[in-house]
Amino acid sequence: MSTLRLARGAQATRILGIGSTQPEQVVTNEDLSKVMDTTDQWIRERVGIIERRFAAKDESAEDMAVVAGSKALADAGLSPSDVDTVILANCTSLTPIPNYAAPVADRIGIKRAGAFDLNAACAGFCYGLGVASDLVRCGSSKRTLVIGSEKLTDVVDPVDRSTAIIFADAAGAAVVGPAEEPGIGPVVWGTAGDLVDMIYMRDGKYIFQEGQSVFRWATTQIAPIALRALEAAGLQPSDVDVLIPHQANLRIVEAIAKRLRKQGARDDMVVADDIVYSGNTSSASIPMAMDHMRAAGRIHSGDVTLLIGFGAGLSYAGQVVICP
Ligand SMILES: CC(C)(COP(=O)(O)OP(=O)(O)OC[C@H]1O[C@@H](n2cnc3c(N)ncnc32)[C@H](O)[C@@H]1OP(=O)(O)O)[C@@H](O)C(=O)NCCC(=O)NCCS
Repeated sequence: MSTLRLARGAQATRILGIGSTQPEQVVTNEDLSKVMDTTDQWIRERVGIIERRFAAKDESAEDMAVVAGSKALADAGLSPSDVDTVILANCTSLTPIPNYAAPVADRIGIKRAGAFDLNAACAGFCYGLGVASDLVRCGSSKRTLVIGSEKLTDVVDPVDRSTAIIFADAAGAAVVGPAEEPGIGPVVWGTAGDLVDMIYMRDGKYIFQEGQSVFRWATTQIAPIALRALEAAGLQPSDVDVLIPHQANLRIVEAIAKRLRKQGARDDMVVADDIVYSGNTSSASIPMAMDHMRAAGRIHSGDVTLLIGFGAGLSYAGQVVICP
């Protein structure tokens, strides 16, 4: 009987570079209060957002993905031919055929790439990062570009005050490649499919969410999953330099940080608050927060960084990474 040969991959993986982009149009809470019954004070106090960015009519998630992906490659010091796989996390596409990943890979210049979209809603980037790391470790890919790109304004009712104040548009990306020392820990992921009705597309058109139920789930169930990701990487809460939860609501982010500090995370752990000026950008929020924080000098190459994504599905995924 013939024996199949198996691909040989890298011992370990790491993030080699990151990048992100946002549309130009800034939308303030004041702007929103002119089209719906809300106030700047309410949004700041309940959600923590001061402003967010909305894409122009002719600006797509695909366009933003090309920009963020190209920036991540440049940050890694790589050219498109150094990458052979593109994973595009997205949950807001209005046209599933074709997918985004194939044309995005082509526009970036990654020819003949293995390319696919992945939908795990706001947990999409962490799912993609987990898959990318395993592809490189198994030898299926030499380097993988993972992009989270969303045009949420396509799927949000612009006058619904329970969603339109939260969601926004952006893209973030990371290049994953081989490393001598582990730079991406095991992914811990899962779903609570029995809670699917908490966030869904009502009539296939606009996002509906049971805000309070999602809030309760996120503030009670996500910190324990983040702790499991730490344990999977063989680390303690006190080892974490940076916490980047999905930027869903600043109060959710703060609740997760508080739970981790109760379990031993340090007071000087840097906690992402990118939502304040970016809104909730679903699968783009984690890589974009990392990019913004590093550019601002708040986090540094080598920092032990705990990522935790969560959202519709309900889905969640997290892992520890070393900041590139
Ligand atoms: C949606 C969310 C911001 C609502 O905040 P909340 O504190 O739960 O607010 P509630 O729904 O309890 O409403 C409280 C009051 O504010 C009002 N309200 C709701 N939205 C408002 C808004 N945008 N502006 C002003 N008032 C608002 C409500 O009508 C209610 O008024 P009442 O007390 O007179 O009945 C919050 O539940 C949330 O962020 N949930 C998580 C959502 C999330 O993260 N989704 C993405 C997952 S990836």
